Amino acid sequence: MKIKINRPFDLHVHLRDGKMLERMVKHTSAHFGHALVMPNTTKPILTAEDAQEYKREICRIAALENLPHFTPLMTIKLVASTTPEIVRQASKAGVIAGKLYPEGVTTNSADGVSNFESLYPVFEAMQECDMVLCLHGEVPGVFVLDREAAFLKTLIDISRAFPNLRIVLEHVTTEEAVETVRLLPYNVSATITVHHLFTTLDDVIGGMLRPHLFCKPVAKTEGDRKALIGAAIGDSMRFFLGTDSAPHLVGKKECSSGCAGVFTAPVAMACLAEIFEQYGALERLQGFTSTFGRVFYRLPPGPGTLELVKEPWVVPAEYDGVVPFRAGETLPWKVL
Ligand code: DOR
Ligand code: ZN
Repeated sequence: MKIKINRPFDLHVHLRDGKMLERMVKHTSAHFGHALVMPNTTKPILTAEDAQEYKREICRIAALENLPHFTPLMTIKLVASTTPEIVRQASKAGVIAGKLYPEGVTTNSADGVSNFESLYPVFEAMQECDMVLCLHGEVPGVFVLDREAAFLKTLIDISRAFPNLRIVLEHVTTEEAVETVRLLPYNVSATITVHHLFTTLDDVIGGMLRPHLFCKPVAKTEGDRKALIGAAIGDSMRFFLGTDSAPHLVGKKECSSGCAGVFTAPVAMACLAEIFEQYGALERLQGFTSTFGRVFYRLPPGPGTLELVKEPWVVPAEYDGVVPFRAGETLPWKVL
């Protein structure tokens, strides 16, 4: 059994910088035609210039890997010092989104935002330039399982204050977040990761500690997981794929203060075919992975197609020093 879909878009990925970037570009560009690249690199992507330089580097690596069809879509990180002028210049330089991390919420977010209202002039400029606002929707300091729910009021406030600003609530993990996005107007969408469709907090800490499943926001309950599956396979175009594939070297995960992030890039499409088939929704895989996000971001179709075949394969224990999601497991679907 084979399926062919339009080449997918990953609308949330961490490609990192330096040596890690050199290793990671191929894992995303092998399957995805376009990817929205997050700006929380060691030296953050804050301006048009940073984004242009980062894009050149990604394209150089993709060309070396013989994957020149890959288009990285660029973001800047919104921090307290971001100005409307920085936004306008970034937009002119082709940056399509600004990513907001609340201060200290996850990897490389010590420079994140603590006062959202102080960024309203920046949101105003983004609305004018038609730049998308991507939100890491958690409130730091709140009990970890309640952080996403605590953020939803901020999402509602921003979407009301800027009715023409396109907003993406990234990597939703709760039924409450799914329902909130559904009730908000059409300028608000959400990404769903692959790992959150498969795991609950029990998988992370319910038995042995599984550091390679630890991420932010952490996976929640079985009811939440079912709500995410319902949104992914459902008919709403407001929910689309953003893998949040977030590689960390094995030593940074298996240690006393392990980093948050699940590395899904090489297995994402195979895992999605598996779960969509499980729920009798294979015909919706194309919408979730290559149509809905593209339409929301107003992007042209990706180049060509991606074929998957029902043929078991074993996920390697490591890719370039990083342990992937479902390492060592046999997956029923394989990307051709
Ligand atoms: O688990 C995560 N890891 N969540 C994020 O939001 C960031 C990411 C990373 O950059 O490692
Ligand atoms: Zn992320």
